[in-house]
Amino acid sequence: MPSRIKTLPIVLVSIALALAAHAQEPPKLAEQQFKNIKIFKGVPADQIFPAMQFITASLGVDCEYCHVREGHQMLFDKDDKKPKLAARKMIEMMNAINKDNFESKKEVTCNTCHRGAAHPVGVPIISDEEPKPAAEHSPIDAQAPQPDAYALLDKYLAASGGAAAVQKITSRVEQGSLTGFGGQKISVDVYGKADKRVSVMHTPNGDNITAFDGHSGWLTVPGRPVHIMNADENAAAALDADLYLPIHVKSLRQKFIAGPGEKIDGHDTIQVVGRTEGQPPLRLYLDAQSNLLLRLVRYQETPLGRIPTQVDYSDYREADGVKVPYKWSIARPGNRFTIQVEQLQQNVPVDDAKFTPPSPPSADQKPPAH
Ligand code: HEC
Ligand code: HEC
Repeated sequence: MPSRIKTLPIVLVSIALALAAHAQEPPKLAEQQFKNIKIFKGVPADQIFPAMQFITASLGVDCEYCHVREGHQMLFDKDDKKPKLAARKMIEMMNAINKDNFESKKEVTCNTCHRGAAHPVGVPIISDEEPKPAAEHSPIDAQAPQPDAYALLDKYLAASGGAAAVQKITSRVEQGSLTGFGGQKISVDVYGKADKRVSVMHTPNGDNITAFDGHSGWLTVPGRPVHIMNADENAAAALDADLYLPIHVKSLRQKFIAGPGEKIDGHDTIQVVGRTEGQPPLRLYLDAQSNLLLRLVRYQETPLGRIPTQVDYSDYREADGVKVPYKWSIARPGNRFTIQVEQLQQNVPVDDAKFTPPSPPSADQKPPAH
């Protein structure tokens, strides 16, 4: 749905700005920040946008399906569209189903029924394809011995070059290009240092910067104030920034278990799932042959369900005794982009100032002219 992909970044920025303005104060509740909250009373304000993203991804619609647009402005508080009213009822229905049947766990979500469509299909589908033989979709054999997850994570560390070599890397500077967001190619610089990282995307309108300073992250787009990341965004950014992920991976969750993976780009994989009570899981897909990490799936918790982010790593090359992915793709429902590294340097000095947010622009500062 191309219209969704086009409008989403604009909306994201405007919501981010509304939230950034309050980043220094204690977290606001939805009803304190927004004008017409009936369902999400008591929910932190910064959970509203993730909840809305969850809805759009589950229904395969854009924000305008439920919200009124006036020129360039979205009037999110208005109740003029029927689907918005329907959605309120649906949220109540979903919560009731989960309360009555699943101890209030979010087992049934919008996506359980809608699966990417505004109108769920209640009647089983007749497929155009030949039915598959039963063996191909038989349930996984729970009795089959599963490989030891911790041994697999050790193999992943060894495949990455081993702890000693990985630890010797103090910084990584990468230059490359980004494709996605409508197909245009954008040049990118990525600076990594231990647990810090900054990516600078040189767009035609100016630099988009995403950074994590080891504790918290921020992002900027041309002509806008800095957006300071919330706790969820920080957790994701910390994971992406960690130069020593192969060493630290076991400490990311309390417990890891291994199971069958899937084919990724022609490679067989084994899935290692990390779990901590009360947190979304972390899924790692390790190459059955090379033991390298081919895919990482993490989840963002929202008031309605979890939104997945999938990072695929490929084009592994040897650099200073470690294996480095020269290519990675980051995908969420409705968008995907890929970074291909063209030049890489390690153990070069990187100024810590690169990771600290710029001071907020003064009120009279104008957006740069294009
Ligand atoms: C299927 C319908 C639906 C879609 C699609 C949808 N929303 Fe909403 N949105 C709602 C409902 C329902 C509420 C009111 C929630 C409540 O009453 O607590 C709401 C409330 C909001 C609010 C709070 C408005 C206020 O001032 O009270 C914002 C902001 C918002 N949505 C943004 C978005 C954005 C951004 C998107 C697209 C990413 C989006 N919504 C997509 C149904 C939708
Ligand atoms: C248990 C199944 C189920 C769940 C869960 C569910 N829905 Fe629905 N929803 C339906 C059905 C069935 C319809 C009616 C379909 C039709 O009109 O063709 C519907 C209709 C809707 C419509 C009206 C569509 C239109 O334009 O007429 C909206 C909006 C909607 N759902 C949003 C949501 C949201 C948001 C969630 C999650 C909070 C959700 N639904 C969860 C089954 C479900």
